[in-house]
Amino acid sequence: MTTHWPTSGLGFGGDYNPEQWSAEVWDEDVRLMKEAGVNIVTLGVFSWGALEVADGVFEWAWLDRVIDLLHRNGIAVDLATPTASPPLWLLAAHPEILPVNADMTRRHPGARDGWCANSATFRRYALRMTKALAERYAAHPAVVLWHVSNEIGGGNRRCHCDESLAAFRGWLRLRYGSLDNLNRAWGTAFWGLHVTDWDHVPAPRGVEAHNPALVLDYDRFCSDSLLDHFRAERDAIREFAPTTPITTNFMVGPHQDVVDYPRWARHVDVVANDHYTVPTDPLSAQDIAFSADRVRGMTPGRGPWLLMEHSVSAHAWYPVNRAKAPRELVRDSLGHVARGADGALFFQWRASLRGAEQFLQGMVSHAGPDSKIGREVRELGAVLGRLAEVRGSTVAPARVALLFDNEAGWAFSRGLKPHKEIGYGDEPRAWHRALWTRNVLVDVVPPRTDLSTYDLVIVPTLFLVDDESAARVAAVARRGGVVVVTWMSGIVDHENAVRPGGYPGAFRELLGVRSEEFFPLHPGERGRLDSGATFCTWSELMDVVDAEVVARYADGPLAGGPALTRRAVGSGTAYYVSCALEPESMDEFVGQVLDDAGIEPSGGGAGLDVVRREKDGATWVFALNHGDEERRVAVKGVELVTGETVDHELVVPGREVRVVRQIR
Ligand code: GAL
Repeated sequence: MTTHWPTSGLGFGGDYNPEQWSAEVWDEDVRLMKEAGVNIVTLGVFSWGALEVADGVFEWAWLDRVIDLLHRNGIAVDLATPTASPPLWLLAAHPEILPVNADMTRRHPGARDGWCANSATFRRYALRMTKALAERYAAHPAVVLWHVSNEIGGGNRRCHCDESLAAFRGWLRLRYGSLDNLNRAWGTAFWGLHVTDWDHVPAPRGVEAHNPALVLDYDRFCSDSLLDHFRAERDAIREFAPTTPITTNFMVGPHQDVVDYPRWARHVDVVANDHYTVPTDPLSAQDIAFSADRVRGMTPGRGPWLLMEHSVSAHAWYPVNRAKAPRELVRDSLGHVARGADGALFFQWRASLRGAEQFLQGMVSHAGPDSKIGREVRELGAVLGRLAEVRGSTVAPARVALLFDNEAGWAFSRGLKPHKEIGYGDEPRAWHRALWTRNVLVDVVPPRTDLSTYDLVIVPTLFLVDDESAARVAAVARRGGVVVVTWMSGIVDHENAVRPGGYPGAFRELLGVRSEEFFPLHPGERGRLDSGATFCTWSELMDVVDAEVVARYADGPLAGGPALTRRAVGSGTAYYVSCALEPESMDEFVGQVLDDAGIEPSGGGAGLDVVRREKDGATWVFALNHGDEERRVAVKGVELVTGETVDHELVVPGREVRVVRQIR
């Protein structure tokens, strides 16, 4: 594994798709890139059809020219294998490589991601393309990073073709060893679905109410097959480019991922993420923080990661695609950098005029460089240039961890459930919001993480958890930390089987409570606790076995019953929250929990996000003002965005970002 970072300062640039433009435009592109301070572009993501124009017939001339042009102008290349979008000639010759949906309809040619990870034919063609590309450009000095495919699994996460089913059966054989083990783990006695032959193992096809254990295993299998494809392309590149870092772009957002990124993270040299804000999200700055805290939480050593794509302004895929407000572009990019990104790249350099995403803005927008976008892009490039010294620093360690797990999310969201309207990420993001509002930094980590350095661990709706992870959570409280576990946590084990004896199964003993039944609420319904707190979505009937009641249900069918509990465990504390607290009530509760854990907010709060990065004894204080009013932070040093000296107090104008190299 190679670990060197592809750019000397922070990365700045985006996806560059020159094949959509004439050679005169390339010259203008490079001139504008230099003007904006672009130092790296991602090339070739969707170029398969332009590079292999017919079976085995390669056209390299245009790419040779573009890479040379970029290199002459000091712009580095992140070269992508173009396999995310197989060419039409290949799909015409081999329509069987197109993914099959759960309803057994086959996808049509004409869009991207038209490939099945289990197709041997696709693999053969993809690896031939990858090897040809790697062989040709591995030694080119412009190529500093390799980029495998694009958002793998984004449009082809689950394929239900027969080749995939055969591969699934093979995967199950390895996992379970025998049909007896499989039958026990899946509980096939239910509905008399005992499997007597590996060839009879069903796939989660159609709209049937499939066995949840089978469905979860299919999701795990799909993640593994896509990973296997990534590794095959990665290894093909490595044959020719043994020391250049290789990555692929993840899509880490507020909900469970399409594949299990924390498990993928150790297979890439650089963890890279794509993040797009949602135009209707009133708290997109927190969405950025949540995503970035998740990416950092899965990056080995919590080291720097790369923001591979984000949007310049208007997106294209929502019903209403509003442009970003003035200053939002710069703030969004630095929001990622503050939380550990060593670069901010966009999709894409120049906005396309034609093609599916013709209304997605680019760093060169439809209006041209003399525009709000053009000015903010150039400003961002200049700011990132001035922040070059930050590269290689890491975010100051967080004292709070929030557990988030894809397998738990997959199990939570699929199949028949007590409440089908809840997204797995809703509750984790709500707890993150409450901490973010108080400016408390959180590492959002998978449950397998070593939790020994955290003072507060939040476990929101962690539906599936294995025994070892549950034990690690309990150990936090025993050694004096504070643990908060919420409803719908610890319900099933790693086999997706309900843990018997009452909820929240895996955490019952730690919390000293035992819930008997769920009382989910309908949309629009809410309830009250005797503390004045309010809740929605969820409540439950529980007994207290060995804990103190902090609040009781004040109305509804559970009136008088315990709702929030606290238990002293070792020298620490374990809270159980059996209902979905509404934002204000959650904020208040989080305040109390932070007091218990002795955690002070790190200086900002209420719309001012303050995050520190550190390297070799130096500290950089990032202050992002998401509000309109000017805000102040007590700090001394040199402010790198404006170049001003800060004596004792930094002034951050509304909607602006400031970064101070601290002097103590
Ligand atoms: C990403 C994708 C890009 C582009 C972008 C904007 O998810 O990787 O190719 O489609 O979204 O929609």
